[in-house]
Amino acid sequence: MNIYLIGMPGSGKSTIARDLGKKLNRKVIDLDDEIAKNALMFVEEIIEKLGIDAFRNLEAEALKQINEDNVIISCGGGIVTKRENKAFMNGFKIYIDTDIEIIRKRLETDYERPLLKTKTLDSLYEERFLKYLDFADVIVSNNKTLENVCEDIIEILDKEGIL
Ligand code: S3P
Repeated sequence: MNIYLIGMPGSGKSTIARDLGKKLNRKVIDLDDEIAKNALMFVEEIIEKLGIDAFRNLEAEALKQINEDNVIISCGGGIVTKRENKAFMNGFKIYIDTDIEIIRKRLETDYERPLLKTKTLDSLYEERFLKYLDFADVIVSNNKTLENVCEDIIEILDKEGIL
């Protein structure tokens, strides 16, 4: 079964996905990387040049293109903005719940996120919080070390019979 990580930008999805991939010996797909590979442009460039709606369509396409099983997929923070994406996330969806103040600190030095040029982090969070909960099969707190959050996830996957 595929494992999808969802959550706010800066919540730690990509780092957790890479670490889980190593620990569980599973392939990791970063959806933003797939979109960039398909478009031959960086994600930031796509959003700036083609606009956010075009990016969302490419994101949905990249999601649909995944035809592998037992992989870990780190999704972009906005995957939940298209309700229909949920139907294409065939597997176990984990919401990485990171304190907004931790995210704020992480993103302070990150000028590459075009979305945060037009919206505040708080408004993004407010807009999306319920959507993350709606998509998620389980919520995992990431207000802890990488080691501990991966342990929590592995325990859940084990209990769910996914490992
Ligand atoms: C986005 C998050 C980004 C990327 C794009 C849009 C968003 O991914 O997909 O810039 O709408 O939250 P990360 O969540 O990996 O930063």
